[in-house]
Amino acid sequence: MSEITGAERPARDGSPFPDRRDPVFERDVRRMFTHIAQRYEWFDHVASMGNDLLWRPRALWDLDRFRAPGPVRRVLDLGCGTGELTRLTAHRFPSAQVVGVDFTAAMLAVAQRRTGTPGTAGKISYGRATAMRLPFPDGTFDLATNAFLARNLLDLEAALTEMRRVLRPGGVLLILEITEPVSPAFGSLFHAYFDHVVPWLGAAVDSAGPYRYLPESLRRLPPRPAFLDALRRAGFPRAEAHTQSMGIVTAFLAEAGARAP
Ligand SMILES: C[S@@+](CC[C@H](N)C(=O)[O-])C[C@H]1O[C@@H](n2cnc3c(N)ncnc32)[C@H](O)[C@@H]1O
Repeated sequence: MSEITGAERPARDGSPFPDRRDPVFERDVRRMFTHIAQRYEWFDHVASMGNDLLWRPRALWDLDRFRAPGPVRRVLDLGCGTGELTRLTAHRFPSAQVVGVDFTAAMLAVAQRRTGTPGTAGKISYGRATAMRLPFPDGTFDLATNAFLARNLLDLEAALTEMRRVLRPGGVLLILEITEPVSPAFGSLFHAYFDHVVPWLGAAVDSAGPYRYLPESLRRLPPRPAFLDALRRAGFPRAEAHTQSMGIVTAFLAEAGARAP
């Protein structure tokens, strides 16, 4: 997919289309998620052909095998959006306090509404904050998770350092993200769908900008080995990448080292 230039922005239907080179990029990311908040979950289920319903539980399963056994008391789900991973995490660690944090109020409002589920509501709380400056003291959490956040971060390395700061030494970070498929042949097929069909589906629901931004944001993400290097530099000496669906998504797992960098 070629670079989308100024002439093609904004999207024809006027929906937000964040541009990473723009100083108001983060504001536009918030506008974009505000625009799609009500349709976010069902659109993702349709666009991923239901696979996203498997990706999050599988990533939590990987997390459980990666971490050292021991109690989990406090979990942070960053960029929690409508709370899909937050709720699954609360079910997976029933004795933990789970905090979902996001900088888009409209996504948090949906999360709050959906989290009325008996058995989890008491343990989940939501708050508004940017991933770049988390309102928690050093070493607060045993686990930190985030799904489909990383592509949207203006400064990935700074955000990874901030995630490391709020984890205790030995705490574990899970980052689930869309990634390039492992096989180039399957990659061509994937890109035909992801770069063309998904934006077309987005345009059909008045969201041409957000769903053109989606494939563009994937091109900004470092490849798996470079992502693992970034994690190590941010203070996670043990880091692994676990692919799913032929590499369409990857669960990055990383253990916080003894001292933050
Ligand atoms: C693609 S959604 C993912 C939501 C959810 N984690 C899931 O599994 O579906 C990305 C979320 O990250 C949030 N986000 C993006 N950049 C952020 C930042 N810098 N700080 C906090 N939240 C951010 C957006 O508001 C949005 O709700």
